[in-house]
Amino acid sequence: MVHSSLLDHDIERILVSPEEIDRITTEIAAQIDDDFRDSGKRLLLLCILKGSVVFMGDLMKKISIPVEIDFMKVSSYGKSTSTSGRINILLDLQRKDLSELDIVIVEDIIDSGRTLSYLVEYLKLGGAHSVKTCTMLDKPSRRQVEFYPDYRGLEIPDEFVVGYGLDYAEQYRALPYIGILKPEVYTK
Ligand code: IMP
Ligand code: MG
Repeated sequence: MVHSSLLDHDIERILVSPEEIDRITTEIAAQIDDDFRDSGKRLLLLCILKGSVVFMGDLMKKISIPVEIDFMKVSSYGKSTSTSGRINILLDLQRKDLSELDIVIVEDIIDSGRTLSYLVEYLKLGGAHSVKTCTMLDKPSRRQVEFYPDYRGLEIPDEFVVGYGLDYAEQYRALPYIGILKPEVYTK
């Protein structure tokens, strides 16, 4: 790997390389193209800030049908590495055209499943024409509510990962790979 960051030494092991990320995002974008090409509605990619911003950027460049973007911010995690269980909307959609939209929610990772199951319900109640979910990573062993994404990059084991948008205490988001954080970083 050519890239190197001052934060590389906090990473125990690289789980997903930039090359694999490229392959996965290409595949998901092609599926979204196929699924929405003939929909007749407008496609909206809804990025859940902040962790999904890098994945979203890659995905939107690789989708070839017309696509719009928007953002929501919700909180489920504080500074710790375990889920708090509550969802708060910190930045809401400010729009009245949900009924004209096929929405694909773009997430970095599904853990407990609370964030996405809440958001799907919220957008459907708001009148969206359709709501689908797309996640780069999935930790199915951590589910607290049953949830299955429509598009999924990779299933991963129950490890705390950072990079490619994912943070620990707001750090590591800019790493171009997804890596397992050394436990001593968050236990010290
Ligand atoms: P949940 O599915 O509602 O529990 O929450 C998913 C959110 O938890 C993601 O959007 C991340 O912000 C955060 N999260 C879960 N696991 C990790 C991880 O391994 N690294 C970094 N953030 C994580
Ligand atoms: Mg986060």
